[in-house]
Amino acid sequence: MKRISLTQHLIEEQRLNNTIPAELRLLIEVVARACKTISHAVGKGALGDVLGSTQSENIQGEIQKKLDIISNEILLQANEWGGHLAAMASEEMETIHPIPNRYPKGEYMLLFDPLDGSSNIDVNVSIGTIFSVLKAPEGMGTPTEQDFLQPGRKQVAAGYAVYGPQTMLILTTGNGVKCFTLDREMGSWVMTQSDVQIPADTKEFAINASNARHWHSPVKRYIDEMLAGRDGPRSKDFNMRWIASMVADVHRILNRGGIFMYPADLREPDKGGKLRLMYEANPMAFIVEQAGGAATNGKQRILDIQPERLHQRVPVFLGSKSEVELVTSYHKE
Ligand code: AHG
Ligand code: MN
Ligand code: MN
Repeated sequence: MKRISLTQHLIEEQRLNNTIPAELRLLIEVVARACKTISHAVGKGALGDVLGSTQSENIQGEIQKKLDIISNEILLQANEWGGHLAAMASEEMETIHPIPNRYPKGEYMLLFDPLDGSSNIDVNVSIGTIFSVLKAPEGMGTPTEQDFLQPGRKQVAAGYAVYGPQTMLILTTGNGVKCFTLDREMGSWVMTQSDVQIPADTKEFAINASNARHWHSPVKRYIDEMLAGRDGPRSKDFNMRWIASMVADVHRILNRGGIFMYPADLREPDKGGKLRLMYEANPMAFIVEQAGGAATNGKQRILDIQPERLHQRVPVFLGSKSEVELVTSYHKE
């Protein structure tokens, strides 16, 4: 097999399609390198003393795991000095992180969920890192939080790493979705899928069913119809999978189709679900659309939502197009 490394792919993509300027390539390579470091820490587990929780809470009011903080630090340190960024933002930091004055500044802004699926860390189930890249508005000094509040369709790159049986990096720069597998011996990312397409039809859904009693009626109806199986209105049996790491659930859907849902529910009507728009839903929506799928908040395309706050939450329905369209149509009825 001819091995195409991440670097080779990025350089050739720039040569052919002019979509990855040198600074963006550097950014992607730095993030990918940081993910390697995180993967290494994750892989050590108890031997590296990285499991368990800390005493601190993040802005979302969640107790931070040790690996949430370690991963956040790894990404910050890796990305600070290269001159490719104007600022960063993270699930684990209340405010944005401008590039310190001692370093040159670049034209991009990076957002990340350093460790997704935190509840799975200590039980050795797949977890990941999600990232999103925006352009800083032109001609400005140090960016503000306001500068980050761009709709997801403005992303110039997005991706995630999944730390599972294999460590993989999934990337889009707006020209399809590529997958890279980490060759642990060589320490390099090798392209293993070059044109990911989400199968259009599916018999698999992912939702945290323990919240069923709190669901709004369109979600209830959609799930009930699937549960009714062959004898119900959908005339087929469905299967359910829920890993509780969005990266792992999305990764399964990229490979064999399906729909992933994290709806808002009746408990806190103003909260808008659990997942965060800017560093979870937007990058995943960009990837899923680039792989031929769809992503909505039940009413509109996720990538068209105008963010109002950095840590804003959003209901998420994403995956195979026909299913996302169906559950979205139920919300409109
Ligand atoms: P994070 O670990 O970054 O806070 O995100 C966890 C998210 C997401 O990965 C997953 O889909 C969902 O939370 C799991 O929620 P439940 O606890 O409801 O299963
Ligand atoms: Mn997350
Ligand atoms: Mn997280």
